[in-house]
Amino acid sequence: MSQPGRLLCPTGMDTSKKQMRVAVAGGTGVVGRLVVAALEAEGHEAVVLSRSKGVDLTTGAGLDRALDGVGAVIDVSNTITIRRSTAVSFFERAAGHLLAAGTKAGVSHHVALSIVGCDRVGLGYYAGKVRQEELVLAGPVPGSVLRATQFHEFAAQLLERGGPMPFVLAPRMRSQPVAASEVATALVELATGDPVGMAPDLAGPEVREMSDLVRAVLRARGSRRPVLSPRLPGAVGRAMLGSGLLPSAPGPRGTQTFEQWLLADTAAHAGTRR
Ligand SMILES: NC(=O)c1ccc[n+]([C@@H]2O[C@H](COP(=O)([O-])OP(=O)(O)OC[C@H]3O[C@@H](n4cnc5c(N)ncnc54)[C@H](OP(=O)(O)O)[C@@H]3O)[C@@H](O)[C@H]2O)c1
Repeated sequence: MSQPGRLLCPTGMDTSKKQMRVAVAGGTGVVGRLVVAALEAEGHEAVVLSRSKGVDLTTGAGLDRALDGVGAVIDVSNTITIRRSTAVSFFERAAGHLLAAGTKAGVSHHVALSIVGCDRVGLGYYAGKVRQEELVLAGPVPGSVLRATQFHEFAAQLLERGGPMPFVLAPRMRSQPVAASEVATALVELATGDPVGMAPDLAGPEVREMSDLVRAVLRARGSRRPVLSPRLPGAVGRAMLGSGLLPSAPGPRGTQTFEQWLLADTAAHAGTRR
């Protein structure tokens, strides 16, 4: 990741920080697994908060016990929905329970991952991210919010979420995608430092059209399925085609290109995908 004025070791991590126990809400997800790996690579202890590990963020079940001795929380939990009410309810409840349990446990830093442009593009899901940001920034635990652009992995997530259709639907959107591994590194760096409130937007090295990336993932997996890329109607469609999802100010930029990520991802999964 390139950002003027910061001295990083060759892995991109600051090794001068002391080791701590860090809870990762959503630590089994696409970016969550990479956050856990990045924490462990730095000698920190990662505590995964997910339903498969006995913690439900929407009810708070299992949270008090899991946060015992935790110094920082990184929230990369997620719900897959396009409905505003479902998204707002999930992120409100998850952040509320995490912040309340964090206060009881004496957590000193709460970091949430959000999305560049979530306050500028009127998608229902983004309303949930905006609510999460509000709660974290005004919450009882000192907080930081990192907004990142779509991950390189997002193109594959769109494919997988679409199910086994004869075609793939990928709405037109201009993005500046970033490798989830670089987002994970940035989150660990934030969480093990002092709270900053809203951090500068993190984006990748190039502006791309998402439907082209979806097509490239499909081809790399040997599929010739057609990709339909409609423009979403109204103001949302205009914002997604314009600069609504792009960072609006200078900030840290990942260095891995989409093609470099795709090459590595294809090699890593050779033989395991149809
Ligand atoms: N994908 C992108 O391109 C992108 C870009 C920028 C920011 N973000 C943000 O990054 C975050 C992570 O995204 P992702 O795509 O990595 O997520 P993901 O792969 O969908 O993973 C979601 C995680 O949340 C956990 N989870 C879901 N419901 C839960 C519940 N009720 N209680 C506890 N854990 C729960 C899941 O574990 P269980 O199922 O085991 O509970 C899983 O670990 C999201 O907040 C998203 O808005 C994503």
